[in-house]
Amino acid sequence: MKVLFIGGTGNLSTACTRRALAKNMEVFHLNRGTRQGRTPPGVTELRGDIRNPAEVGKALGGLRFDSVVQFLAFSPEHIEADMEMFQGITGQYVFISSASVYKRPSLHPVITEATPLENPYWDYAQLKIACEETLTRKGREKGFPYTIIRPSHTYDDGWILSQFVSVDFGVAWRMLSGLEVVAAGDGQSVWTVTHASDFAKGLVGLLGNPAALGEAFHITSDEFLTWNAILTMIGAALGVKPKIAHIPSEFIMRVLPHRGVGLLGDKGHSCIFDNSKIRRFVPGFRPEIHFAEGIRRSIDWYNARPELKVPNQTLNAEFDKLLDCWNKALALAETLKA
Ligand SMILES: NC(=O)c1ccc[n+]([C@@H]2O[C@H](COP(=O)([O-])OP(=O)(O)OC[C@H]3O[C@@H](n4cnc5c(N)ncnc54)[C@H](OP(=O)(O)O)[C@@H]3O)[C@@H](O)[C@H]2O)c1
Repeated sequence: MKVLFIGGTGNLSTACTRRALAKNMEVFHLNRGTRQGRTPPGVTELRGDIRNPAEVGKALGGLRFDSVVQFLAFSPEHIEADMEMFQGITGQYVFISSASVYKRPSLHPVITEATPLENPYWDYAQLKIACEETLTRKGREKGFPYTIIRPSHTYDDGWILSQFVSVDFGVAWRMLSGLEVVAAGDGQSVWTVTHASDFAKGLVGLLGNPAALGEAFHITSDEFLTWNAILTMIGAALGVKPKIAHIPSEFIMRVLPHRGVGLLGDKGHSCIFDNSKIRRFVPGFRPEIHFAEGIRRSIDWYNARPELKVPNQTLNAEFDKLLDCWNKALALAETLKA
């Protein structure tokens, strides 16, 4: 089995690479080579910028694949360019979409692949929906062999999860500094976080599977936790009790609209995923890494790299502004009440 990962050294694609190699697949990466040292032995590296079709055509040099997995498509134009590039040279094209495509606010907290796609808040999700529509429509017209994957909040080493920023040490730094971290609403909405190595088991299980063509899947953990629990577990792994400030998503939308869209359009809602479809197609699929273990691994990863345990100054400024506005609003409510 010959598989090409567009990306390959990213948060999701690194775990997928490890899994594909463990399954004896012949793995190729196509990326620009900016993350030296992250490519495991056994991978064939192709160099190119995916936004430059001429460069990619040259890098591919007449190769053919059983599966191409596109981790880097964010607009219908990206999908159209890929269809041009990969039609006829792959048996399967896997588009990494997002679970944020599912209707928000959710009609029901339990999501299946039949849940309608609609996100009136978040342009990222709207564009992923447009990608899926383009792929489905044009894919059927042209006989392009696509599969759609919708990851939900999926992390690996180096990620500290929150409803705001997850990709750096910023939230952990605030907890260790005794500063408040924000949870939307009352922090009791239920959320699903997935370790990338569990996601990889589902994704790699679908590669080269003809039954997966024309199908869409989410692949998530079966563990669901409130945001209060997620933040408390991060604190526990750091050895601190976090100070959690609860602020309604609508209020956050007023003060920090670019963060509000990710709450009203995703992480401010309860989401529990019914994974029976992926289990049907990949019978051995069983997520194994509980969050308590996954977050401990990520913090161990940081402890081995103390130079990365730094504040996120943008997040700090945003939280300071948000907390200041919220405290003023609470004080105003007190005066109005009187
Ligand atoms: N993690 C989540 O919670 C989550 C949830 C839903 C959906 N998703 C989706 O997952 C995908 C991200 O996957 P990921 O985390 O594995 O990737 P990533 O970390 O976002 O991307 C990094 C990878 O892409 C390569 N890359 C970046 N720009 C490139 C370019 N112009 N041309 C060629 N290669 C390029 C990088 O290598 P170089 O820098 O060397 O080029 C690296 O291999 C996205 O589509 C996202 O929407 C993620």
